[in-house]
Amino acid sequence: MPIAGKFITFEGGEGAGKSTQLRRLAEQLTASGSVVRGLREPGGTAFGERMREVLKQPGAAIAPAAEALLFAACRAQLVAEVIAPALAAGEVVLCDRFVDSTVAYQSGGRGLDRALVESANRLACGPLRPDLTVLLDLEPAKGLGRAAVRDRGQADRFEILGDAFHRAVRDLYHQLAREEPGRFLVVDAARPPDAVAADIWHEIARRFR
Ligand code: TMP
Repeated sequence: MPIAGKFITFEGGEGAGKSTQLRRLAEQLTASGSVVRGLREPGGTAFGERMREVLKQPGAAIAPAAEALLFAACRAQLVAEVIAPALAAGEVVLCDRFVDSTVAYQSGGRGLDRALVESANRLACGPLRPDLTVLLDLEPAKGLGRAAVRDRGQADRFEILGDAFHRAVRDLYHQLAREEPGRFLVVDAARPPDAVAADIWHEIARRFR
């Protein structure tokens, strides 16, 4: 049976397999008759894709507060231009990263005040919240190793940050999942992609169908 008007986000550290799992879920939902919109952050709009290049470029001098606000600005554009209209039209919106990424990376990783980061995101998104957030959980060293293979060693501005940064990101993701167990599905992303996809599909069926 198709599902409609749901907002599902994918979160996790580097190399956790978010884009693969998003694509697989999109294929399964489409096959079952849902109208699906797959998006990524930062990106998904002309403005967001330009900012993505800026934000990921190694060596770019961007202060932590500027970084948090740029991610929130990209999100504000994406919500207004794409996500809100798509949900209103009954589409299922799958988004590779959303507000939790800014909380995990810019508050957990960079050390910005969490309440301030969240308030910038309330400005960006209004009351919009994901119906389900899939957290692909993976040991940072393993994820960074996978990302290095994928990107042929061309690490971006976040991938070059050390183990302590990525551990802090993971810790904050765990905290978010503990705070909102009803919104999060935490999946062990160290397993083969088929097993991860099966867990996600099982949860979609349990919640929405
Ligand atoms: P990715 O989506 O290909 O992983 O690249 C996005 C990078 O930007 C990733 O390293 C995480 C980082 N990021 C943040 O630091 N904060 C955010 O709010 C978002 C959306 C991404």
